[in-house]
Amino acid sequence: GALAMDATKVHDHWSSRLGFIIAAVGSAVGLGNIWKFPYMVGQSGGAAFVLVYLGCIALIGLPIIIAEWLIGRRGQKNPVNTMAELAKKNGRGRGWMLVGAGGTLAAFLILSFYSVIGGWALSYLAEAGAGSFSGIGKDAAAALFSGLLASPARLLAWHSVFMLLTVGVVAMGVSGGLERATKLLMPALGVILLGMVGYGMTTGSFGAAVDYLFTPDWSKLDSTVVLAALGHAFFTLSLGMGVMIAYGSYLGQDINLVRAAGTVAVADTTIALCAGLAIFPIVFANGLDPASGPGLVFVTLPLAFGKIAGGLVLGVLFFALLIFAALTSSISLLEPVVELLEERTPMGRVASTVVAGVATWALGVAALLSFNAWSEVLIFGQNIFDLLDKLTSKFLLPACGLGAIVFVAWFLDREGVRQDLGLGRAGFSVWNVLARYVAPAGVIAVFWHSL
Ligand code: PFF
Ligand code: NA
Repeated sequence: GALAMDATKVHDHWSSRLGFIIAAVGSAVGLGNIWKFPYMVGQSGGAAFVLVYLGCIALIGLPIIIAEWLIGRRGQKNPVNTMAELAKKNGRGRGWMLVGAGGTLAAFLILSFYSVIGGWALSYLAEAGAGSFSGIGKDAAAALFSGLLASPARLLAWHSVFMLLTVGVVAMGVSGGLERATKLLMPALGVILLGMVGYGMTTGSFGAAVDYLFTPDWSKLDSTVVLAALGHAFFTLSLGMGVMIAYGSYLGQDINLVRAAGTVAVADTTIALCAGLAIFPIVFANGLDPASGPGLVFVTLPLAFGKIAGGLVLGVLFFALLIFAALTSSISLLEPVVELLEERTPMGRVASTVVAGVATWALGVAALLSFNAWSEVLIFGQNIFDLLDKLTSKFLLPACGLGAIVFVAWFLDREGVRQDLGLGRAGFSVWNVLARYVAPAGVIAVFWHSL
């Protein structure tokens, strides 16, 4: 397959350049773009968040994608061993291993709640197919969603199905097939989103949505918002998790890392902005609260599918594609954990996948209970779901991403890095400024301010 992951401990490589880019886009584009981005925008008050987020993608995210791939390609192992070996080779201590370890831990924590949201999407696919959205009003849409949240049994069932799908794909090593499908289905998701943006234009609130997304009210900006934007930039690009390091480890020398990183960042950002342009017109046209949180997409889109001609088919198609996008991300989240177990324990690929899957599933159960039975269980004042989300996005990801970029920019041989990146003098100076100063300073400044 394109993503050649076999059961031996010797690494294979991507069979083609395109195969790698497709897998990376598949990892990046997911629930983060369509579920998380819009509600984060809404909770943070709109355009100021969006603009800071775009800045974070370009100035911090891009250099870090490149750095993680470069590390992975040099190491050719799981993120932990890769960091340990590269550090040793360059005369640095074993502490750098923590970058790989923290990232792998983050991937594990994220997948646990990501699978719960994947379960929401599965449940909405079933609702769409059953015609539950037809003619639905905003109160009924809200009730549909809160009904799902209130039912541990339903959440558990769908979470389990999503996790089974993820584990199945990874264990059977059919990710190659999934990547071939990605080539077709990601663009399809883009097209259907564009269709929803088109619907947004008919609601009479499109202008308000554009304004909300792109005309900043800087008074809304504070350190919480900036940290949220930075964290989301990491989350959406699959950074700071060892995922891109792991993907880079399957990479041959022929790929232009800089151009590939640009492709991934543009594709990811485009899908997120389209999701925003699709959702906020519906929010404003129906007088919904943009700040309502994680349910935003699940409450707004049914209103549109319930009104438009062919809404049933479109709704089914949309949620099916969303689930597909979520799966190409979730398999990438499982990958570093599996790779670690496979290379550091006697377990083979299938056993590693099952162990990682069961552990993630169990933590996911704790996450889904925080919407109902355990909503009063607070740790540091947060329920388990919020804790997993914040601990990863606002701390682990930026910290590990920072480690990766600092390592590449400051501790690897400069000329070797220049050649790895295939950059000329001018391009390399730009890289140096971003990678040595701008990106690390950005992350540190944001951390500093939010403490
Ligand atoms: N980037 C994915 C998204 O936006 O949905 C989520 C994700 C996938 C995060 C893989 C991290 C990761 F390693
Ligand atoms: Na994303």
